[in-house]
This record gives sequence, C-alpha cells and structure tokens, in this order.
Amino acid sequence: MTYNNVLSESANGVCTITVNRPSKLNALNTETISELHEAFKAADQDDQVKVIIVTGSGEKAFVAGADIAEFADFSVSEGEKLASSGQARLFDFVANLSTPVIAAVNGFALGGGLELAMAAHFRLASDNARMGLPEVSLGVIPGYGGTQRLPQLVGKGRAMEMIMTAGMIKADKALEYGLVNHVTSQEDLIPKCHEIAGKIMTNSSVAIAAAITAINSNYEAGENGYDTEITEFGKCFGTADFKEGTQAFLEKRKALFPGK
Ligand code: COA
Repeated sequence: MTYNNVLSESANGVCTITVNRPSKLNALNTETISELHEAFKAADQDDQVKVIIVTGSGEKAFVAGADIAEFADFSVSEGEKLASSGQARLFDFVANLSTPVIAAVNGFALGGGLELAMAAHFRLASDNARMGLPEVSLGVIPGYGGTQRLPQLVGKGRAMEMIMTAGMIKADKALEYGLVNHVTSQEDLIPKCHEIAGKIMTNSSVAIAAAITAINSNYEAGENGYDTEITEFGKCFGTADFKEGTQAFLEKRKALFPGK
C-alpha cells in the first residue's frame, strides 16, 4: 500500500515504518496519524514481520510533534476528540501491538513525536536527537499519552520538570533518564536497531506477544499485572512455540519457532 506521508518497507522479518513529511519535520497531522495506523496494522498482521522499526525521514527530525497548524483553531470538544482518537488509533494501538516496536529516534522528538517514541516498546536515539514535551509553551498539555508514559519511563519528578519547563533534553540525558536504551551515531542508529531486532527474532514471537501483554497490564487501570502474567504464562503452555522451545533445549539444539 502507498501512503502520502508514510513509507513502509519490509525485509528479512523487519518492517521499517518511516514518517515522511520532512518539509514539516515529520509533524503528525490527521492524515499521517491515519496512515501510520494502517501501516502499523498491516505490519502487525503480516506473519513475516517479527519486529517493527519506526523512524523519521531526513537527518533532522524523528517527529517534531503534532501538526500545530492543524489544531490551532480547535474548540474544546475538537481538542478532546483529537486526543482521544489519536490515542486510540495510534499511540495506544502501537503500545499494545503484539509485534515488538522499536523507535529509532533520529532527531527532534517533540510533543507527539516523543509520545510516538514512548508508545513504542523501547527506544534508541542517535546522538543528534533532542527530546521534549513542549506543549505548555503553546498553552496546551501533552494529549497523546505523554503525561502518563513520560513519568512511567523517567519517574514523576523528571517528567514534571520536562513538562513544566517545556525544555528539550539531549540524547545522553535521555540515556541517563532511561528514556532511550542506547545512543549511537546517526549512521549507526538503524543498523543497531537491526542488530537488536535480529536477537528478538530468534525467540518465540508468541511468547514475546504474551510478555508485551503482561508488561503493559501493569499500566492499565483496574488490571492486576501479576494476574495477567499468570494467565499469559499458562497460555504459553498450549503453544507450538513452547513445545519447540522446550524440546530444542532438551535435545541440545537451536529452537526453530513456528510462531504459533
Ligand atoms: N507542527 C507543524 N509544523 C511544524 C512543526 C509542528 N509541530 N514543527 C515544525 N514544523 C514546520 C515549521 O513550521 C516549518 O515549516 P515552514 O518551512 O513551512 O515554515 C518546518 O517544519 C521547519 O521547521 P522550523 O521551525 O523552520 O525548523 P527549525 O530548525 O528552525 O526548528 C524546531 C526546529 C523543532 C525547534 C521547531 O520546528 C519547533 O519548535 N517545532 C514545534 C515543536 C513543538 O512545539 N511540538 C509540539 C507540538 S504539540
């Protein structure tokens, strides 16, 4: 499928989804959010895709935020709808995919851009990356999950400071905060993501999906993550991947997971 603002390319088990509006620093307008939803959905449904990498086009930006020009005239109800539909169609959707999603933060990740990176399962950044939630400088707050996911990742005090100051942090500070897992040079960013994807792909995709569900459960209101873990753990025992994984161990060979 072809999109106006998104590129999606799959090879060797990895689907790379690129936000492609470089003239607007890849800002997320409604069309881009819709196209990203479709691209993530298609990648998640493709049995050949074991890992998704999301990144931004060009050398300057991952995503410089929601498209400010698009929402500048919105009313209270339009603002609320923008946040709720965006969360449902893209940010929560990505966070809850069964396929692992790695964000390759290759430049500015601001506002909705950092929120997209935080919705991914984990993040790598290149050394030119700058991250922040500058919404209060526009008279609004983060609306795509930022007030929830930033404190989950960096702690409440650091999130409060980042959101209140509307400032940007550099890649090394993001690493220190635990917001990103690795920092690389610009040229090494995507290869490093592929290296990690390669390690993920040797494991059971069914068990990885169960682990994502169990980990995310801790952050869902009204859910008990320990109970979810028990249920997901039990379900693994009924999978072909579990049979292959345990059998391969006992036979002292490498597991070849069917992904079922
Ligand atoms: N929404 C809409 N357009 C955006 C955008 C956004 N979030 N971020 C950047 N752009 C557009 C600029 O308007 C400009 O378009 P133009 O050339 O048609 O005027 C183009 O992208 C390039 O941006 P520019 O500001 O000229 O680049 P810069 O290098 O001087 O500054 C930033 C880079 C990221 C510091 C600056 O673009 C910025 O502050 N963006 C907004 C960040 C933000 O507040 N995001 C949260 C939104 S809720």
